[in-house]
Amino acid sequence: MSTLTEAASTSTDEVLTVRNLQKSFGRVQALREASLTLPRGKVTALIGDNGAGKSTLVRCLVGVQPPDAGEVRLNGEPVRFTNPEQGRSAGIETVFQELALVEDLSVAQNLFLGREITRGFGPLKFLDRRKMRKEAHDMVSQLAINVPQVTSRVRRLSGGQRQAVALARAAGWSSSVVILDEPTAALGVQETQRVEQLIRSLREKGMTILLISHNFEQVLRLSDQVVVMRAGRTVARRDTSDTNGQELVALVTGAQQDSDDNEEPDPALLPEPEER
Ligand SMILES: Nc1ncnc2c1ncn2[C@@H]1O[C@H](COP(=O)(O)OP(=O)(O)OP(=O)(O)O)[C@@H](O)[C@H]1O
Ligand SMILES: [Mg+2]
Repeated sequence: MSTLTEAASTSTDEVLTVRNLQKSFGRVQALREASLTLPRGKVTALIGDNGAGKSTLVRCLVGVQPPDAGEVRLNGEPVRFTNPEQGRSAGIETVFQELALVEDLSVAQNLFLGREITRGFGPLKFLDRRKMRKEAHDMVSQLAINVPQVTSRVRRLSGGQRQAVALARAAGWSSSVVILDEPTAALGVQETQRVEQLIRSLREKGMTILLISHNFEQVLRLSDQVVVMRAGRTVARRDTSDTNGQELVALVTGAQQDSDDNEEPDPALLPEPEER
């Protein structure tokens, strides 16, 4: 009996599980074998060098690109999204590396993109702009986001303000999982602090977060666990409290092989033999 209970509690504690995801583009094996688990209510950081496969993992996970092989489970149930809207309606919001805001629309319009509120009956539907403005204002002020007005065009916002709008959109739809692909890569110090504060507040609301970042100090500040990718594989996992910047650098570059890893070490990932 106790094993059954344990199994049940494990599956509910793991919101999202990715097993052996693979994806090639022609001869480029972007994902060779990527596996990770997002524990409920925690921040999981995904780190790895440029080209390691982090964004590809996200795109395969949420249905932007179909994986060649592998399995994704949401709350224990196998899922296969074929477009990001399916992921969104299942409660997974993604802020992509290339933000995907519409420059010529207002903040409010961007927040409601694809989810416009309408009023009227049957075939006679009108956009309820007033309601959307009001709700957009609430979404933005709840997160203490610093944007001039919800009617401002995104084109006129700074990088940090855009990032904040994208985050507000992700956070505002009572989603259970939020995936953030390098949310502070292009930001200054203050904007970075503000976005980090937003991420903390999402965590406090109980959201499960996957954070991709090259900033190891940020990873150590914000995450509960760290997953390391190298050359298309997830090669190590650490509790954030048990690691440090030096070890993360070593894991990312391959100077340190992971001793906890269950997988057979891949000869292709071992350091080159030294010249004699
Ligand atoms: N659409 C595509 N067509 C061809 N190759 C691709 C495509 N998308 C990604 N790749 C390749 O797959 C590999 C992984 O790319 P990916 O964008 O996932 O890396 P990343 O870890 O997100 O890197 P970064 O930290 O620079 O964002 C790279 O070699 C990249 O060139
Ligand atoms: Mg990327």
